[in-house]
Amino acid sequence: MTSTGPKTRVSSWNEWDPLKHVIVGRADGCCIPAPEPALDAKVPEDSDMRGRFGPRPAESVERANALLDNLARVLERRGIRVDRPTPIDFDQPTGTPDWSVPTMFGCMPPRDVILTVGSEMLEATMSYRSRWFEYLCYRPLLQRYFDEDPNMRHEAAPKPRLTDADYRRDYLCETVSIEQRLKWTADKFFVTTEEEPLFDAADVLRFGRDLMVQHGFTTNLKGIDWLARHFPNHRVHALNFPGDPYPIHIDATFTPLRPGLIINNPERRLPDDQRALFEKNGWEIVDAARPAHNAPPPLCYSSVWLSMNVLVLDPKTVVAEESEVHQLEQLDQLGFEVIPVPFRDAYAFGGALHCATTDVLREGGCEDYFPAVGARAG
Ligand code: ALA
Repeated sequence: MTSTGPKTRVSSWNEWDPLKHVIVGRADGCCIPAPEPALDAKVPEDSDMRGRFGPRPAESVERANALLDNLARVLERRGIRVDRPTPIDFDQPTGTPDWSVPTMFGCMPPRDVILTVGSEMLEATMSYRSRWFEYLCYRPLLQRYFDEDPNMRHEAAPKPRLTDADYRRDYLCETVSIEQRLKWTADKFFVTTEEEPLFDAADVLRFGRDLMVQHGFTTNLKGIDWLARHFPNHRVHALNFPGDPYPIHIDATFTPLRPGLIINNPERRLPDDQRALFEKNGWEIVDAARPAHNAPPPLCYSSVWLSMNVLVLDPKTVVAEESEVHQLEQLDQLGFEVIPVPFRDAYAFGGALHCATTDVLREGGCEDYFPAVGARAG
C-alpha cells in the first residue's frame, strides 16, 4: 500500500450530494482528432474543425490550463480535494489489429471516460478510436485510489473492436443535412450500430439507485444493456432527446440540480412517455435558460448549450460559467448559491464544468429517488 498523500475514499451515488473529492482535467497536448467514422458524424459540415487535426494551438492550451487550474483552486478553497490526470503524448499514432489513427484526443474531460458509481470507478468503452487509450491518463489516480481505499473497485468495460461494423455508413456521406440528422436521431437511427456494447461515461447520470443513460451517437443499446448487467442493483433507463442532431453526452441536455429538480434543454425535450417516470416520482423538469452565446468558441465540438453543463457542489451550491448570464440568473431564481467561474475558453477541449470533472467522493449513500413503480423510462 502506498503511503503518499491523504487517504482516499471513493463513493459517489448521484450528481448533487456534497462534493468532497474530484478529478479536474488538463488541457496539455490536447489534439483535434483525425477523421474517423464516429467523429465525422459529429463534426458539423460547416465546422472550423473539418479537415484539421493534430495539436491545438499552444496559446489556447495555455489559456485552457489556466482556467482548469483556476477551477481547481476555487474547489480547493471550498475544502474539496482535487486530483489531476497525467496526460500522455496525444500527438502520436495509435492502433489495434483492426485500425490505426494518427492522433489521440486529450484528457480535459474526465467525465467522458470514468464513471463513478458508489465505490466503483469504471472505465467506459468509449466509442471513438482516437479516445481508445484515454483511460491511461487516469490510471495513476485510479491505481492510487485502489491502494488507498480497500473498498474501491477499479473496473474497465470490455474494450470495443471499433471496426467499421460499429458505424452506420449512412452518416459518412458528406452531405447529410441537419433536417436528415434530426429525422434520424428522432427515429433512434444513430451513427453507432449494435455490433458490440459502446458507451461513454458522460452519457450516464447517477440518481442513486437509478442510472439515466442517453442512447445516442456515443452510447448504444448494447452499451446500456451492459451497464444494466454490470450494475444489477441499479435500475438503468435509456433516455432519448429528439431535437439534438448530434446526441453525444447527456450533460448539455439534462442536468439534475438537486433531488426533485432537473433542467432540460428546451430544444431537446425529453419525450412525454419518458417524462412519466420523473413526474410520477415527484421530479420537476424545467426548461434550461437560453445560452448567452449564439455560437460555440472556435474549434469546439460542443453546442452553445454547454451553458447548462454546470457542476453541483451540494444541493444548494452550483458552479456555472461566468459569461452564461441567463443560466446564472435561472440558478439564482431556483434558490442556489451560484459560483461563477471563467471557463468558456476551455470549452473546445472537451466541454464545460461538468465535463471537466469526475467525482471521487460525495457525501451520502445510495437512495431511491424513484420509489413509484410501473413507470420505467426504458
Ligand atoms: N454534445 C453536447 C452538446 O454539445 C455536449 O450539446
